[in-house]
Amino acid sequence: MKERILDILRTGGKKPLSGEKISQVLGISRAAVWKHIRILRQEGYEILSRPGTGYSLVRRPDKLYPAEIRAALEGDSLFKEIEYHEILDSTNNRAKELADGGAPAGTLVLAEEQTGGRGRLGRSWVSPAGQGLYFSFVLRPSMLPRQVASLTLVTAVSVCQSIAEVTGLRAGIKWPNDLLVDGKKACGILTEMKGEIDRVHYVVVGVGINVNGDQEDFPQELRERITSLAQVVGRETPRLSLLVSFLQKFESWYEIFQVQGFLPVREAWKNLNVTLGEKVTVRSGREVFSGLALDLDDTGALVLQEANGHCRTFHSGEVTLDKSLGGG
Ligand code: BTN
Repeated sequence: MKERILDILRTGGKKPLSGEKISQVLGISRAAVWKHIRILRQEGYEILSRPGTGYSLVRRPDKLYPAEIRAALEGDSLFKEIEYHEILDSTNNRAKELADGGAPAGTLVLAEEQTGGRGRLGRSWVSPAGQGLYFSFVLRPSMLPRQVASLTLVTAVSVCQSIAEVTGLRAGIKWPNDLLVDGKKACGILTEMKGEIDRVHYVVVGVGINVNGDQEDFPQELRERITSLAQVVGRETPRLSLLVSFLQKFESWYEIFQVQGFLPVREAWKNLNVTLGEKVTVRSGREVFSGLALDLDDTGALVLQEANGHCRTFHSGEVTLDKSLGGG
């Protein structure tokens, strides 16, 4: 009911709508309308009520409420099931729990804050309240486990394009899962999978974007290597717009990927990456290799050319750009 009242207020724009009118449309009492308006205000919606004219929605809170996401996505979307948390250990953990319980593809889990945000290679992901986007979604693709890594690249392309659309910033992709803005990391992607050798049960893609945080929000030892979009662009970025833009872009790239395969994604990735053509160090397991990042092969693996001309292909690994400050 609360969501329906919001819908009515949204369509009314700035024009006030009387409690009487809302109660008629929804078939509830005026007291019930008032009760829901009070709850919406407690959630941070600024709703003006003028005697004799009625209610109008003045401002929405900077929260990632499912009702706002659904309203912005409009129509049929992959992301039908949305679970929202003020605070959670990790959205990846929760999405995996839901996927284990049979949650459909497109199930999206969001948190305003994570207490145990996880990164790749057992690292943690600093997730201060209300400053970033921390979300994960379930996919159930018909593909082989070895093809799943390319979903990280589909995601990276979508995040990059949504950052450009909403902030005007040009983020660059560092293979396989980092997005750099101004040479520092602003986004990470954690793709996890459950399956058998020849069958994927589900994939959970987790995305963390540092949107509005200050340097003080990050631990001292990371400050040289991490940034937020706001720090670079010099103003706050609306998190909801960025999220919605990402979800729309991801859905369309995922569709392209499923219908046409990886090649169109590879082209887009190559245009947005900051890895190819650079001297890099790749850590893969306990081994370390250096050379020129030569290409991305047609599965999304990185091709490295060593000093002796020999080429190696990496399906996973940790890349350091040799020109960078030395990090992650
Ligand atoms: C990395 O750069 O190593 C990946 C970072 C991924 C962080 C996101 S935040 C939302 C989701 N939940 C998690 O626990 N991790 C991912």
